[in-house]
Amino acid sequence: MLAGRLIAEGQLVGFPTETVYGLGGNALDEKAVRGIFAAKGRPADNPLIVHVSAWEETETLCDVNATAKRLMDAFWPGPLTLLLPKKAIVPDVTTAGLPTVAVRCPAHEAARALIRAAKVPIAAPSGNLSGRPSPTAAAHMLEDMDGRIPLILDGGNCSVGVESTVLDVTGAVPVIYRPGGVTREMIAAVAGDCTVADSVMRPLKEGEAAPSPGMRHRHYAPKGQMTIVRGEDEEKVISTLSRLYDESENACILCHADHLDRFGSRRVQNFGGSMEETARVLFAALRDMDEKKITRILCEGWGEKGVGLAVMNRMARAAAFDILEV
Ligand code: TXA
Ligand code: MG
Repeated sequence: MLAGRLIAEGQLVGFPTETVYGLGGNALDEKAVRGIFAAKGRPADNPLIVHVSAWEETETLCDVNATAKRLMDAFWPGPLTLLLPKKAIVPDVTTAGLPTVAVRCPAHEAARALIRAAKVPIAAPSGNLSGRPSPTAAAHMLEDMDGRIPLILDGGNCSVGVESTVLDVTGAVPVIYRPGGVTREMIAAVAGDCTVADSVMRPLKEGEAAPSPGMRHRHYAPKGQMTIVRGEDEEKVISTLSRLYDESENACILCHADHLDRFGSRRVQNFGGSMEETARVLFAALRDMDEKKITRILCEGWGEKGVGLAVMNRMARAAAFDILEV
């Protein structure tokens, strides 16, 4: 497999996973890892996730404890990343100097075939340029990486659409640093308990220490001003979105699938009929808003149960936490 050979030779390859596309390189090769940071324009203090094709491959990379093993058995392959104490073989550039390494076994067959062919663990951040939405289709990745890497594997649209859950399993109770497709409820059912870092749904305060470097870094913000409206009463949500819509601007309402005909002549776009569907279309919709030069983005939010927490975490950051509860 050409892609596997490229990775083994120290080059970078774009590849699909069930969450988002990744920008992969040999996790144990410092030079390849530096190349990943350079191609993305990623700050060197933001560590990478190391991808394996089977849980056994993590044994040389980190110390796997009993809770971690139970979670691997339950959710791997799948959208769950575990933070565990790193072993010496993992270069400091990969973990940005941290004592832990993030490990994940993706479910997408192309990703698994690539890791097996390369015969090395693959370090891969999301395949976007730093500060852009994560790519959920090969075309998005090409937009950002054209001319920077030799190859992108096209595996179609990602089935989850938001990045993996990042879970710290080094302490007594697992802590979610980034919510994703494997939810707090699912983790608690296997590990007995699970908490969510409280900075997941609020901005970090000036000078506040971040438990995960990714929380500190600037996230994608669309060019247009974005506001999220949510509440139990959907009539109230719809009327608020309508009221905020300003005819004098190039505005767009991202609404639930069953509300598409509730906004008269106002410009609307389908933002999904379920939380799972919103997760799948979220990043593509944000790219689309910029492409259409939308200056005012009004979107319908979800609650924070289940995968709703992952969806709202990404939406809240894109909207710079401009959330209207009605
Ligand atoms: O779904 C995903 O996780 C995708 C696909 C490609 O696997 N990857 C991904 O990688 O989203 P990236 O680099 O965009 O996000 C990794 C997140 C960052 O927020 C980073 O700060 C955090 O994981 N992270 C990685 N290693 C860490 C560590 N040792 N301690 C704390 N946070 C860590
Ligand atoms: Mg990313």
